This record gives sequence, structure tokens and C-alpha cells, in this order.
Amino acid sequence: MSGRSYTAVVLIVAALTSSGAGQARATMPAPQPGPLAEPKSVDQPGFPEQLYQWVIPAHNPQSAAKVALGKELFFDPRLSADNTVACANCHDPDKGFTDQLPTSMGVHGKFGQRNAPTVLDSMFNIEQFWDGRAATLEDQAEQPILNPIEMGMPDQRTVVTKLNSIPEYQKGFQDTFGTAPNYRNLVAAIAVYERTQIAFDSPFDRYMAGDSNALTAQEKRGWAIFNGQGRCMSCHGWNPTRPLFTDDRFHNIGVSAHSAKFVPHARQALALLSSGGGGARQIDQLAIATDMSELGRFLVSKQPHDIGAFRTMDLRNLYLTEPYFHDGSQATIWDTLDHYNKGGVQNPYLDGGITPLGLSEQQEDDLAAFLLSLTSQRFMAQAQKEYRRQFTISRTTRPQRDTAAAMGLKGRNGPGFSGPFGDIGPGQSAMSEDPALLGGD
Ligand code: HEC
Ligand code: HEC
Repeated sequence: MSGRSYTAVVLIVAALTSSGAGQARATMPAPQPGPLAEPKSVDQPGFPEQLYQWVIPAHNPQSAAKVALGKELFFDPRLSADNTVACANCHDPDKGFTDQLPTSMGVHGKFGQRNAPTVLDSMFNIEQFWDGRAATLEDQAEQPILNPIEMGMPDQRTVVTKLNSIPEYQKGFQDTFGTAPNYRNLVAAIAVYERTQIAFDSPFDRYMAGDSNALTAQEKRGWAIFNGQGRCMSCHGWNPTRPLFTDDRFHNIGVSAHSAKFVPHARQALALLSSGGGGARQIDQLAIATDMSELGRFLVSKQPHDIGAFRTMDLRNLYLTEPYFHDGSQATIWDTLDHYNKGGVQNPYLDGGITPLGLSEQQEDDLAAFLLSLTSQRFMAQAQKEYRRQFTISRTTRPQRDTAAAMGLKGRNGPGFSGPFGDIGPGQSAMSEDPALLGGD
């Protein structure tokens, strides 16, 4: 082992043994592109080809040259201030294009407030980011490069100057776009590469295409619960023309309620946004690096009903993208199911669709198995391993389980009103601030 890689291993071990967002740790080496980084075939069961044609913007068509350039850029840590952090650090193809960390680590080992979503199928998102603050993959890619705790470049000009000093990019941009490197073409190439990351071809897709044996009996039971008692379908909808398990809307399902001081933070955010201009970069910095992150969609819409609301995520390939939710607060799928089963965590902005579900242990297991069936063939072996790991954990460790609340024996409809996080009540009086006062006093 060379001295350098030995140092890297020591640093990684050090990184894994400390914890906590906002703390600095040593950076890990940027991942190298392996087989899973390759562009995927469009020939996949369940792949919505017409929808795909529709999501490719007319001003940035796919081309082999752009894909190759975009891939180089996606894996290049030189896009960061200290040459250590590429897009792929946080969106590693071998980890389902995520980092499998609760929240992501950028330059200088700094941690942000949010969990890195997958790039797989992200081209189908109506809006990008957990709060939808970017409209397209091109707009999205502009932000992390400039975010002080992600890739940390000071401004677009510095990025472009750096790219122009690298001969391979001078040539690559010239050959692809007929111009020297510029910021617009940089994000265009990255977005084109991302639009090659198609991940359908799951047992569920083959089942829907008519192969009734593609799902096991347990997975079929899970699908029925998903559509019935579990009420998942009401937000994570699937249909043949938009087979993406999301309504593309924003809901407060009580994830932030564990820690949030919603009203004071909302006031603070409104003041900062009005004095700072409220542009895309400012919102990005509030979302990634401050406690105001928990406000979610509110940072974008400034509407009180969006406080603590986040985008409904696609549910494909979940056993590659652990841990879960916008803050990575849930370690296993069983924990997310326990969260829903008890009716989320009460707060004044909780979505009306979140209510105790009364699911039995067996029904939760069935749902967890169904979610595995949404895994692409290419990732299935890896996902099965993670499923078994989480299954084992779930037999002994269930921090979110609250059976009495799930069965309606306490909480909103019952006498209990207790829980580790103030779950299921007592509701807004405990928040100590009256949300009706937001925006005025
Ligand atoms: C330091 C880690 C980090 C780096 C580096 C990084 N990202 Fe991300 N990425 C994240 C996090 C965290 C989010 C979610 C942030 C949010 O929603 O507020 C995200 C969100 C995204 C999304 C939106 C996906 C969705 O479902 O909404 C895409 C696409 C994406 N990143 C691509 C990129 C690209 C392209 C680059 C390089 C230019 C990049 N990321 C660099 C951590 C990172
Ligand atoms: C009221 C709408 C709504 C309902 C009903 C709902 N979800 Fe969600 N789901 C969301 C939203 C919004 C998020 C993101 C929340 C966050 O992170 O704050 C989410 C996130 C998730 C995640 C985490 C995804 C990730 O990438 O981290 C899983 C898993 C999930 N939901 C599964 C389910 C299942 C299973 C059901 C049914 C038991 C369900 N959801 C019901 C809206 C909903």
C-alpha cells in the first residue's frame, strides 16, 4: 500500500468514527468511474420513452460527445476549490449515485444539512432538489460547484478560467460546442451525462408489463398495501405514462418536526432573503448550510403552508440510497415505514394526508419487500444485500416504532399525547410560537 492511500484509509476511518452535521472531517478521494457510471440503455421494461423525449430540452439535445465530456466533468474534482470534491463524491455510481451518508460532505470536510438524492432517473423530476429550487438539471448543476461547503468555487468566472487552463477541456469543449469552456456549456454537458442514467427494468416493471410471476406473493401483498391501507399511492403515485412514484409536489410529512423551530426560522429566512436579494445562490446556501434548511419548500415559495415541506421522492432503487428523508434521519426502510405508521411527527404544518395507518408488523415487512421490487436489474444484487442488512437490523432496532400511535390508541385520536419527539401531539401549543403570527409582529 502506498503512503498516500494508507493516509487516505486512516482519514476515512477517522471520518467514520466522528459524527454530526456542520463538523469538519477529512475528505475522501473522488470516486473513479466504473461500469455503473456508463450510460444506460433506453431499452428497459417500464421505461417511459415518450416522457423521456419530452424531458430532453430542445436547447440541449443528447449527443455522444456531450455525454463523454459531461462524464469527465462529473468525475473531476478539479471543479472544486481544493481539487478534492467531484459531483461523484456525493453521487457515486457504485452507491446508486448517492454517498449513502445522512448528509453530504463537501470541501474541507464540511457537512451540509441535506441528504444527497440519486441522479438516477433525476431527468424526470419536474423540479430538482428536495425543495424544487432548480427547474432543470442544467440549473441544478450550477449550484453545488459554487456552494461554499460543497465544491466551494468562489464564482463562475474562476471555474471557467480553471477549465480554460486544462488543455483536455479546451479541446473537449471546442470539439463538442465549438467554443472555449464556459459555464453554460459546462452545466449543459453535465446534464446530458445525467440524462443517460436511466434505471427502470425492475421486477415491478416486468410485472406491470404482464409477467405475473415477476413479483413474489409477498411483494404483491406489499403493492396492495401501498395502494390501500398504507395510503402511499396518494403521494407516491404510479401510472403507466408517469411511472415514477411521485406526485411531484411538496408535503410536510413531519420529518423536520424532530428539531425544527419553524416559525422563528421562517421569520429569519424571510428577513435574510429580502435583504440578500433572494436569488438562487442565496437560497442554495440557506438550504445546504443553515438551520433554515428545515423550512424546505418555504425557502422557495415563501408560503406558510410550505413550511417543512419537501418533494415527494421517487421510490425506485431505494436499497441503494440509504439513509432516507431529506436529512438522512432514517437509517432503514423499516424506520421510514414506522414513521408513516404512527402518523408522522405532529407539527402545525403537517400534511393532511399523514395519519396513523394501523399497519401490522407483517404488513410493514410486505411493504419493505415490495419496495425492493422497484430495483433495477443492474443494481439488484447490491440492493438485495442491503435489504437483508436492513431486515436484520429491523428485527431488533426500531427507534421510530410506536405501535400504540399506529393503532390509534394514543395521540391525536387518543389519550396518550406522548412520544420521544413529542410525536402525535400535543401539537402546536408545544411549538411555543403561534404560526398565525408568521410575517407580522
Ligand atoms: C458535497 C456533496 C455534493 C456534491 C459535490 C454535489 N452534490 Fe448534488 N446533491 C447533494 C445534495 C445534498 C443534494 C440535495 C440538496 C437539496 O435538495 O437541498 C443534491 C442534489 C442533487 C440533484 C437533485 C436530485 C433530486 O432528486 O432533486 C442532482 C441532479 C445533483 N445533486 C447533481 C449534482 C451534480 C451534477 C454535481 C456536480 C456539479 C453535484 N450534484 C455535486 C450533494 C452534492
Ligand atoms: C402526504 C404525502 C406522502 C405520503 C402519503 C407518503 N409519502 Fe413517502 N414521501 C413523501 C415526501 C414529501 C417525502 C420526502 C419527505 C422528507 O424527506 O422530508 C417522502 C419520502 C419517502 C421515502 C424516502 C425517500 C428517500 O429517497 O429518502 C420513502 C422510503 C417513502 N417516502 C415511502 C413511503 C411509503 C412506503 C408510503 C406509504 C406507507 C409513503 N411514503 C407515503 C410524501 C408522502
